[in-house]
Amino acid sequence: MLWISWKDVLNRQEGRFLQQDDLPQKEIIVNTTEMLKQKHLLTMFTEAAKPLLFVGATGTGKTVAISQFLRELNRDKFDNLTICFSAKSTANFTQKQIQDKLEKKKRRHLGPANNKKLLVFIDDLNMPAVEKQGAQPPIELLRQWMDHKQWYDYTDKGNQLQKISDIVFVAAMCPPAGGKNPVTPRFTHHFNIVTSSAFDKHVMSRIFCRIIDYHIRREGIIGTDTAKTLKEVVEASIDVFLFAQLNLRPTPAKSHYLFNLRDVSRVVHGIQMMNVFVHGSKQKMVRLWVHECARVFSDRLNDEADVAKLFDQMYNSCRDFIKEDIFTCFRAVIPDAMFAEN
Ligand SMILES: Nc1ncnc2c1ncn2[C@@H]1O[C@H](COP(=O)(O)OP(=O)(O)OP(=O)(O)O)[C@@H](O)[C@H]1O
Ligand SMILES: [Mg+2]
Repeated sequence: MLWISWKDVLNRQEGRFLQQDDLPQKEIIVNTTEMLKQKHLLTMFTEAAKPLLFVGATGTGKTVAISQFLRELNRDKFDNLTICFSAKSTANFTQKQIQDKLEKKKRRHLGPANNKKLLVFIDDLNMPAVEKQGAQPPIELLRQWMDHKQWYDYTDKGNQLQKISDIVFVAAMCPPAGGKNPVTPRFTHHFNIVTSSAFDKHVMSRIFCRIIDYHIRREGIIGTDTAKTLKEVVEASIDVFLFAQLNLRPTPAKSHYLFNLRDVSRVVHGIQMMNVFVHGSKQKMVRLWVHECARVFSDRLNDEADVAKLFDQMYNSCRDFIKEDIFTCFRAVIPDAMFAEN
């Protein structure tokens, strides 16, 4: 048997990414080894009709990986349905959404059309509010199906049992905390559980460098100084993000100090809105980058000392990665008097 590393598989697929059409940034999905592994597990488990649950902190790419898998799903074998749970999700609505995708096979027996299987992806599985008695009704409904492969028809005052066949569940959730509730083990024991871990620096760098490469190609500035600066800006943004994640920790008084990959994504997106032909000078780009970091990271901080810490880090990241001095960049547009005051 020939063993191939995930990295090699990834490199082979690299070409496909380059052929993507004109996509907005938020729709660009960069393949990573982690995502390949997740997609491989998803393929194996769904082929075998075994339920799979991804658990991982927020912003670890669970939704992205599963959605990408669903996009590439074999349509001859599977239909798919995505349900995003929220605190307000109800059992009846969940049941309706699933039943709408099924057709009548026999009396009181529903299943997907054309002998396919229905792949139901439930995102944010543990969001439904917990009732006074401790149950989460949509989850109890799904548990009933997993235990008995049938449930009571909600359109018929709940009197008729209905057999449901050929559904495969895939779900994703964050570990319980904040608005996310613990899910009963009576339900989770049906699932094979895969953890999704946080991206490391290299993976983040790969994702956002690919996104910026795409932007560079679209703008037709390959090989220019602006393109080089854009890449340095991405590295600096990741550096600031890692600093914020590590040093600006949530506490009871600062419970909103939660930073994830979406924040880097916002900064990179902000940078891409610049018209590189009009404003492409390095100093202008640094000023925009400082603005974007302030908007995304520092506007969230409610303590002057934390803001100062973050700005120190921005200064260092700018010096190390973009090789510019923030103060010099701002001196060009802000009168000296203002610097003197501070
Ligand atoms: N492979 C990738 N390519 C491009 N962007 C990505 C990739 N993985 C993650 N991202 C970015 O990270 C963000 C967060 O990813 P995602 O929504 O999948 O996280 P999640 O684990 O589902 O988080 P939550 O538990 O909060 O729903 C995405 O909006 C996207 O901007
Ligand atoms: Mg998600």
